[in-house]
Amino acid sequence: MKNIKIEINLEVFSSVSELPVSIQRLMNKAHEARENAYAPYSRFKVGAALQLGSGDIVTGNNQENAAYPSGLCAERVAIFHAGSQNPDAIIVSMAITAKSLNSILTTPVPPCGACRQVLAEYEVKQDPSIEIYFMGETGRVVKANSVKDLLPLIFDSTFL
Ligand code: THU
Repeated sequence: MKNIKIEINLEVFSSVSELPVSIQRLMNKAHEARENAYAPYSRFKVGAALQLGSGDIVTGNNQENAAYPSGLCAERVAIFHAGSQNPDAIIVSMAITAKSLNSILTTPVPPCGACRQVLAEYEVKQDPSIEIYFMGETGRVVKANSVKDLLPLIFDSTFL
């Protein structure tokens, strides 16, 4: 038996104003998208914005459903929309923001496991890693330089 230690690297910014201006702009797009989320059941609104290599920004927000599992997270709404419009798009970065209608969220909200797996698929099929920035409604912003930092031991098509 031997142990394997996996190290991940995350950067923490104390607020949005510490981010590069281009990422502040991307996060603002995610905030705008978040406001249009359809989240009557959880009252938890999430917005995501993708910066594409072309310069375009694609956004998404969570879409809930009375049949709960039929809903979809903001990150997957955004990335599937980008993939459906432009299958060859390079995703440079993603900004994620979440707001609860019950309390002020100051803790950065990372993408859920299923969204990490979907993000992994898109990162694996392009060359550059995807930078992921996530936050709550206000406060700290966490940056991962790659999906691999959020999802060690990625399952991808090489196993098939
Ligand atoms: N949600 C997202 O949109 N992204 C995540 O990564 C975590 C969860 C949504 C799904 C659901 O509409 C609500 O937040 C509460 O789970």
